[in-house]
Amino acid sequence: MAFDAFGDFRMTGHTVVLTGGAQNIGAGIAKTLVGAGAKLMIADLNGEKAKATAADIAKETGGECLGMACDVTKADQIDAVVGATVKAFGGISTLVNNVGWGGRHDDPTAISDEDFIASYKLNTISAYRMSMACLPYLKLAKNATITNSGSMSSAAAAYDILAYGTAKAALNQMMISLAHLLAKQVRVNSVLIGTVLTPGYADAGIDEAMQEKLKNPDNLVGRAGSPEDVANAFLYFCSPASRWVSGQIVNVHGGGNVVRLFN
Ligand SMILES: NC(=O)c1ccc[n+]([C@@H]2O[C@H](COP(=O)([O-])OP(=O)(O)OC[C@H]3O[C@@H](n4cnc5c(N)ncnc54)[C@H](O)[C@@H]3O)[C@@H](O)[C@H]2O)c1
Repeated sequence: MAFDAFGDFRMTGHTVVLTGGAQNIGAGIAKTLVGAGAKLMIADLNGEKAKATAADIAKETGGECLGMACDVTKADQIDAVVGATVKAFGGISTLVNNVGWGGRHDDPTAISDEDFIASYKLNTISAYRMSMACLPYLKLAKNATITNSGSMSSAAAAYDILAYGTAKAALNQMMISLAHLLAKQVRVNSVLIGTVLTPGYADAGIDEAMQEKLKNPDNLVGRAGSPEDVANAFLYFCSPASRWVSGQIVNVHGGGNVVRLFN
């Protein structure tokens, strides 16, 4: 048989929990992983939308995809997702912690303790709780991985989304610590995502003029990203293609924002 260079990217035999996959980036990752052969559970605050998206993905790919309601900031709801996924698919080999978001804070002196705590709960602690809940099953699986949706704002100046950028920076550190603590059992990595224009931008207080500007950000590729652009990096980290890679970050952001000193 001819050598198959794409064979290591196949997700056949993998069973995935993916959080926040009812729309946008999470839905793009879900479609790519199911398209590659994984069985996947979308866990999202919006249970109806999660189910509808999962049904669309199953139809489009011919694969297995389910959806259910889950608030990832609630431990009992996390446990329910783990139980339902194991019941449906027989185990969990792969976790994608994709949930996250944050508000805009134009005044860096006016971020409340509550803003920071809410951002940590959603962007950082939820990923830890979900990782720990899946861990007993990950330890039993071949090619077990945890991959997080990180943000460019965790590694670059993010003064107007400070609480979010801070929580995502903590997620990077958590990824590296877990990769070491779970060495030889579970590979743990993060994708630092750049600008992918979604309805979440309006929710975060970014006005239409700024959203228009962000369609053509000053990055090396010269455009904003799409969920599909981002999903390919997740396929690499979740599949056996990255079997010698753990504790790593890849930036998927069009080459980042260009910093110019003289014009
Ligand atoms: N869009 C971007 O430009 C961008 C840039 C960098 C990083 N990211 C990161 O990528 C990930 C996905 O971003 P997106 O733009 O697709 O987000 P989005 O807001 O469009 O979608 C997030 C999904 O998560 C769900 N969700 C929200 N709170 C939840 C909770 N408590 N429990 C369970 N589900 C919940 C929502 O219902 C929604 O379906 C996030 O972690 C985000 O921080 C996005």
